[in-house]
Order: sequence, then structure tokens, then C-alpha cells
Amino acid sequence: MNAKVYESMNDQINHELYSAYFYLSMSAWCESANLPGFAAWLKVQAGEEQEHALKFYEFLLDRGEKVVLKAIAQPPAEFASPKDVFEKVYEHEQKVTALITAIYEKALEAKDVASQVFLQWFITEQVEEEKHASSILDMVTKVGSSAGGLYQIDHQLGKRE
Ligand code: FEO
Repeated sequence: MNAKVYESMNDQINHELYSAYFYLSMSAWCESANLPGFAAWLKVQAGEEQEHALKFYEFLLDRGEKVVLKAIAQPPAEFASPKDVFEKVYEHEQKVTALITAIYEKALEAKDVASQVFLQWFITEQVEEEKHASSILDMVTKVGSSAGGLYQIDHQLGKRE
């Protein structure tokens, strides 16, 4: 594989695992704040991020490349509110979209068609990830500090499987 495409994909394993760590930390904070539905949603999301990391891991191995796992940074443990949590989720997903786009551009430059096809799944997935994060942020913003409103959102988020 082209060195730039390989390196950015190997780094993406770390970015996805950091995403899992970040969302799990948010999940723990929500659990402690008596928001079990928010916590459950974020825990499912953390699991999906691990799956994303494994997709890159398996793709690199399938292409005969070496997987080099790097240290995962410590995520924040304190958040101001559920709104703060979802502002950070949305912001983080936008960063991930930019990272995936940058890998795709490298694959285009390198004329690496197999990587382009592989990355299409992530490009579509990021549209969904940003949509979910922004719609939850929107709901949380609308209810403000209303305990009843937050309880309703918590109940709804707890249904995610
Ligand atoms: Fe793996 Fe939330 O992007």
C-alpha cells in the first residue's frame, strides 16, 4: 500500500479506539448523573467505535500490512451537562468525518481503488453519525434544564440497541 494511505489508516485505528474511550467516559459520567438512557446510548456508541477500529485493523491485515497499535489518549472525565456531552459528541464526529475524508483523498491520489471502496462505508456512516449527534444535541438544547424534558429524552435514548 501507499505509505501515506497506510499510515493514515493505521492511525485511524487509534482515532476510533479513542472515540470508544471518549464515549465510554461520557457514558460513565451520565450513569453517575442518574441518566441511564444517555449512558446506555453512549455505551452502545462506544461499542460501535471499537467495531470501526476493527474494520481498519482487518483491512490492513487483509492487504498484507502491519498493524501497529499506539497509546490511546486519556479522555475527559468531567462534563458540565448532557448538553455539554452532546456538543462534544457532535464536534468529535465532525473531526472524525474530516479524518476519513483526508484518508479518502490520499487513497484517490495514490489511485488505491480498494481503499476507496473500503472507505465508502465510513463516508456513509459518518453522515449517520453526525445526523444522530446533531439531532440529540438539538433535543437536549430545546428542553434546556427542564427535568421532565431530560427524563423523556433519557427514556428515548435508553431504547437504543
Ligand atoms: Fe467511528 Fe463515530 O465514527
